[in-house]
Amino acid sequence: MASGRRRPVLLLLWAALCVGPGLAVDRSNFKTCEQSGFCRRQRALQPGRSPYRALLESLQLGPDAARLQLVNEATKVPLLLELRGLRGNVTRIRITELNPPRPRFEVPDVLLGDAPAERLEVSGRDEGSLELALGPGGTHRLLVTGKPFRMDLLRGRELLCSVNARGLLVFEHQRQRRQQPLTDKLTGWVGRAWDKISALFHRDPPQDAPTEEGAAAEDGAADTTGDTDEKPPENEEEPGAWEETFKTHTDSKPYGPTSVGLDFSLPGFEHVYGIPEHAENLRLHSTEGGDPYRLYNLDVFQYELHTPMALYGSVPLLWAHGPPGSLGIFWLNAAETWVDISSNTAGKTLLGKLLDYMQGGGETPQTDVRWMSESGVLDAFLLLGPAPHDVARQYGMLTGTQALPPLFALGYHQSRWNYQDEEDVAAVERGFDAAALPLDVLWLDIEHADGKRYFTWDPARFPRPRDMLRRLAAKKRKMVSIVDPHIKVDPGYRVHAELSARGFYVKTKDGGDYEGWCWPGSAAYPDFTNPEMRAWWASMFAYDQYEGSTETLFTWNDMNEPSVFSGPEVTMHKDARHHGGWEHRDLHNLYGLYVQMATAEGQIQRSGGRHRPFVLSRAFFAGSQRYGAVWTGDNTAEWGHLKISIPMCLSFGLAALSFCGGDRRGGFFKNPDAELLVRWYQAGAFQPFFRAHAHLDTARREPWLFGEENAALIRAAVRRRYALLPFWYTAFYRSHRHGLPVMRPLWMEFPEDSATFAIDDQYMIDRALLVHPVTEQGARGVQVYLPGKGEVWYDTDSHQQHPAPQTLYVPVTMSSVPVFQRGGTVVPRQERPRRSTECMQGDPYTLHVALSPQGTAEGDLFLDDGESFAYHTDSRYLHRRFSFANNTLTASSADPRGSFPSPAWLERVVILGAPKPAAVVLRPAGGPETPLHFQHEGPVLTLRKPGVPIGADWEIVLR
Ligand code: GLC
Repeated sequence: MASGRRRPVLLLLWAALCVGPGLAVDRSNFKTCEQSGFCRRQRALQPGRSPYRALLESLQLGPDAARLQLVNEATKVPLLLELRGLRGNVTRIRITELNPPRPRFEVPDVLLGDAPAERLEVSGRDEGSLELALGPGGTHRLLVTGKPFRMDLLRGRELLCSVNARGLLVFEHQRQRRQQPLTDKLTGWVGRAWDKISALFHRDPPQDAPTEEGAAAEDGAADTTGDTDEKPPENEEEPGAWEETFKTHTDSKPYGPTSVGLDFSLPGFEHVYGIPEHAENLRLHSTEGGDPYRLYNLDVFQYELHTPMALYGSVPLLWAHGPPGSLGIFWLNAAETWVDISSNTAGKTLLGKLLDYMQGGGETPQTDVRWMSESGVLDAFLLLGPAPHDVARQYGMLTGTQALPPLFALGYHQSRWNYQDEEDVAAVERGFDAAALPLDVLWLDIEHADGKRYFTWDPARFPRPRDMLRRLAAKKRKMVSIVDPHIKVDPGYRVHAELSARGFYVKTKDGGDYEGWCWPGSAAYPDFTNPEMRAWWASMFAYDQYEGSTETLFTWNDMNEPSVFSGPEVTMHKDARHHGGWEHRDLHNLYGLYVQMATAEGQIQRSGGRHRPFVLSRAFFAGSQRYGAVWTGDNTAEWGHLKISIPMCLSFGLAALSFCGGDRRGGFFKNPDAELLVRWYQAGAFQPFFRAHAHLDTARREPWLFGEENAALIRAAVRRRYALLPFWYTAFYRSHRHGLPVMRPLWMEFPEDSATFAIDDQYMIDRALLVHPVTEQGARGVQVYLPGKGEVWYDTDSHQQHPAPQTLYVPVTMSSVPVFQRGGTVVPRQERPRRSTECMQGDPYTLHVALSPQGTAEGDLFLDDGESFAYHTDSRYLHRRFSFANNTLTASSADPRGSFPSPAWLERVVILGAPKPAAVVLRPAGGPETPLHFQHEGPVLTLRKPGVPIGADWEIVLR
C-alpha cells in the first residue's frame, strides 16, 4: 500500500527527471573527504613528520613472520608490525595495536586461507636499519629503517616500493574519551534528538515516505547550512572523533577514532589502475587538489562520470604498471576507505616530459599512493609481479578466482523493470523467436513478488510461476528473479517472521532490530555476516521453501550495499551492530559479498551440490568473484555511459571480477535512440555479462520495436556473440583456473608497449581478440591501435592482415564492430544460429586460425556439460589444444586428466595468412590419411568438413 501511495510522486519526479537534458547525482547526499571525519583528520597530516619509530632490537623471527614493535613517539603507544614473505612473490605487512583494549576487526572470509609463508632471514644490519631477505634465494630484500620508521622493498638493486617514505602512517589507537566540554555535549544532544525524530518519521512515513531519489531532496531541505560535524571545542579531541553528524544523521562513535592509514611510494611507475568501483577511466588520475578515490559501497542515484565518488562495490586492489613491470597493493580493509594518488609527472604534458629528459633526464617518474580506512587493522599485501599475469595470479591465490559460470549465463539476458505478468513474459519470449534473436534468460524485477516480499510471487500477475518456468525451460531458456536483502517488516510475511524470531536481523546500536526504508517500505536487514543466518538464507532457495521455483530459476541480488533510503548516504548507520558485536562501520563493504555468497550457496544446495549457481550482485568486495557476476548499476542512456562501460569493466577485471557488464542496450535511465541502442548491443556483445535492462518508467525497448533495419543490426550483434561462445567459455575457464581477467587492458598482453598504458577504448578478450567498439555518436571511423612489435592482426570482418605496431583508421558503418584477431592464435566458434546456448550443445565447431608472421598459431577449447561441477569433481571435461606449425594444424589434449563424451565435430577450419596449398590432407590419429576440400580466397584458406570428433587427436597438413 505504501508503495502504491508513493507511485504518483515517483512518476512526477521521473517525468521531471527524464525530460530534462541531463540527469545528475545529488552530490550533497554523499560525503566528501572533508565531510568524513577520519579522512579529513588523516589528510590534514603533512608528509615528512612521521612520529613512528621501529624498535629494531625488538625483532623476532618466527617460522611464518618477522615481528617487531613500532612506537608512536608522541603518544608512546606501541604497535606490532608483522612482515611475511608469502610463497608466489607476495609480501604481507600487518600493523595492529600491541595491547588493544578491545579487539579490532580483521576481515574474515575474503582470503582463501593462510598462504604458505617463507621464513625471513636477516641479511644485513646496522645501527639504524635492518635488512630482511625475501623470496627463494633472497631475490627481494626489505630494508627497515628505525627512525623515522620506513621500509624499502628491493628486487636485486632496484627499489620497487617504499612504505611510509612520506611519513603518513596513521594508527589511531583505541582510547578513553576525554571529558567533553558542555558546548560539545549540547551539540551532541541536539544531533541525537534530531536523529531520533527523523528515525520515528522514517519508521512510520506519513504520506510520501522518502524514496531513493526523494531522500536526497528531503535531506537537503533539512540541512540548509550544508554543515557537517560540530565545531571543535577547545582542548578537545578533533571534531568528529567521538560523534559525527552528516546532514540529519548522527553517528555515535562509542569507540572514538580508530582509523588507519599508510603511504606507498612507487618509483618508476607513472600509471596506476584498479580500485573499482568508480565511473572513471582505466588509468587513475592524481587526486591532488580534489577528493581521494572513495571505496564505500553506496547506492548512488544517477551517478556521474569521471568522479572519484564511491559506487556500489569496492575492491581495495591497486595496480601499478610501467617499465619496472607490474605490482599490486591489496589493502585488506572493509571499512570506509579513501585512496589518494599523486605523482611527480601528473599534469605534465608529453612535451614537458621530453624537455625534462633533454635537460638531463628530469626526475624519475614516481607515483605515491596513500590509503586511509576508518577502522580495522592495517593489512596490506604487496603483489610483486613482475609481469601483469603474475599479479593477477598472486591476487587469485589470495582471494580466489572467478567462479566458472554456467554456460547459459554467457548468453543474452533480457531484463526490464518490470515484465508485468506471465503473459508479458510469454509475449516477450515469442518476440525473440519471431525476430530470430537468440535469448537465454528472462529477468523479473521487484514487481514480480507479492508486495516486494522476496521469495514470493504476486498472486494476480504470476499465479503459476512453475508452469511459466517449465514453458521457458521447454524452449531451453532460464529465468532470473530478484531477491533483495531488505525484508519487508510485516508480521504476516513468513520470511520476516522467521528472521525476526531467530534474531537474525542487524541490530541498532541500542539492540533493537535495525529498520530502514527501502522498496517494500519499512524493511529490516538480515545480518549476512552471521554464518547461521547465511545458512538459513541458503536454505530458503530449496524448492519447497522458495515456492514456485525450479532448477531453471536463478537469482539477482540488488540493493546489497546495503541500500537504505532513509539512512546516512542512502546506506546503513555505521553504529548498527552485527554478529559478534562488530559495528557496521567495521565491515560495511563486506555486506554485499556475504549476500551473494549465501545466495550462491543456496543454489548449490538446492541441487544437492551438483549445479553451478548463477547470482548477479550489485555490491561487491574482494573475493566476490567466487560467487558470480556483477554489473555497473544504474547507468544512463547516454553515449558517455556507453563509453565508460569499457574502462569500468576493465578495472573490474583487474580486481578478478571477470564476469562484469553494464545495463547494456541503452542504459538504465532515459530512452536511447536507435543509434545508441544498436551501438550498445554491439559493444555489449563483446563484454562478459550481456544483459539488457531498463528503468520502470522508460519506453519499452525490445529490439524489434526499433524497425527491421535496427532489429537486423541487433540480431547480427547478438549472433556474433553466440558464435564466439566457445571462445568466451574457454576464456572463463582460464580465468577460473588461473585468475586472469577475461576482458583485459592491452598492457596485460603487451606489457612493454608504453603506447598501450593509457588506452581504454579498446581491449583484449583473453589473448586473441582485440575489440574497439564504436562509442561515438555519428562515427564514420575509429582509430585502432594494433600493438606488438613484429606481430600481425587480422580484421575479423574483412580478414585483411595488418602489421603492428600501428594506429589504423578503420572506417565504420552502422553494422561495424571493429574486432581483430591476433596473428598466432586460434579461436573456436560455433556458427549455427540457435535459440539459446543449450540448443548449441553438440553443434559442430569452426576453428579460426590466424597465423603469425612465422606461420604459427596456438589456441584451445574447453567444454563440458555447461552446468554442473562434474568438470571439477569427476574431471568430466575436454580441454583441447590446437597448434599450427610447419604447415600442419595439430589437435591434441591440453589436459589429459579430463574426458567428456561430446558428440560435437569439426565442421570447418578457416586459416588466415596461409599461402595457397596444392593439397590439404587430414590425418586422424590411427586412421588413414584423407584429402580435404579447400578454398583459397585472398588471405583466407577455408577447409571444408574435416568431420573429426572435437575430442579426437588429428593433424591437418597443407602441402
Ligand atoms: C535498482 C537496480 C535496478 C533495478 C531497480 C528495481 O535501482 O539497480 O537495476 O531495476 O533497483 O529493482
